[in-house]
Amino acid sequence: MMKPVRKAVFPVAGLGTRFLPATKAIPKEMLPLVDKPLLQYAVEEARAAGIEEFVFVTGRGKRAIEDHFDTDTELNRTLEARQNAEAMEAVRLTEANPGQVFYTRQQLPLGLGHAVWCARPLIGNEPFAIILPDDYVMSTVPCLQQMVEAYHRVGGNIVAVVDVPREDTKRYGILDIAEDDGTLAVIKGLVEKPKPEDAPSTLSIIGRYILQPEVFGFLDHHERGAGNEIQLTDSMAKLIGQQPFHGLRFEGKRFDCGDKVGFLEANIAHALQRPELAGKVREMLDRYC
Ligand code: UTP
Repeated sequence: MMKPVRKAVFPVAGLGTRFLPATKAIPKEMLPLVDKPLLQYAVEEARAAGIEEFVFVTGRGKRAIEDHFDTDTELNRTLEARQNAEAMEAVRLTEANPGQVFYTRQQLPLGLGHAVWCARPLIGNEPFAIILPDDYVMSTVPCLQQMVEAYHRVGGNIVAVVDVPREDTKRYGILDIAEDDGTLAVIKGLVEKPKPEDAPSTLSIIGRYILQPEVFGFLDHHERGAGNEIQLTDSMAKLIGQQPFHGLRFEGKRFDCGDKVGFLEANIAHALQRPELAGKVREMLDRYC
């Protein structure tokens, strides 16, 4: 029997150095797309995919995240007194269900693999999802939901993938593919940030994963990889051959919000999707083009 994916890990302990000084006191994951923090989009995506337990791997200077998903009685009371229903609804959507949200700390940002490893006692022996909030996906069906649907068909481990220009392979985890039906690719290897000339394909992993708990057995070794960081990709690669491992070309567009231009593009694309903003934003953009 295939175990359902009920838990999601949100690694949010990184330093966000590319967005300094904005990220000195504010977590990168709390930067907004228009009016909602990146991390809240990620949580809503997880909820839409049927996730019941939310595990945040935080670090120093990330307390704003806990406050964001908490109940702010004083704010609620003030909004109620002002009868501001719209703001009350916006705030209500940030409030986590009691007992469904867990925080653990990664004391040092030793890499994504290490951040995920910090969540192991909270995941236990079941499959789980990982969402990196700085990858924002705009799609009709939420990206993680598409992955969960694929998981019900093929089981095992699934990563969401996009085709990138060959010169960009050095920025991403890249797949080595055995078979490909155009949507699901059977993975035979993974390489972290290969040079364009060494990349086995141009299919790159984005920040959405469904993994089996056996990955923790490999993460336990704390082996350093590319950039001297404990890479998640290296431990995932060790599952290949032992368990099914697929890359899913999802329907939708990914924005790399860890990058300044990607973040600005996501803001504009998101604003253009909002009926109450689209017209004004288009007019504003026309004045610059
Ligand atoms: P990034 O490498 O994009 O984030 O990691 P970063 O290191 O914070 O950003 P820059 O490069 O310095 O600007 C992707 C995700 O993994 C988390 C980050 O918080 C981000 O959500 N992460 C990364 C951790 O939780 N711990 C780490 O040690 C590294």
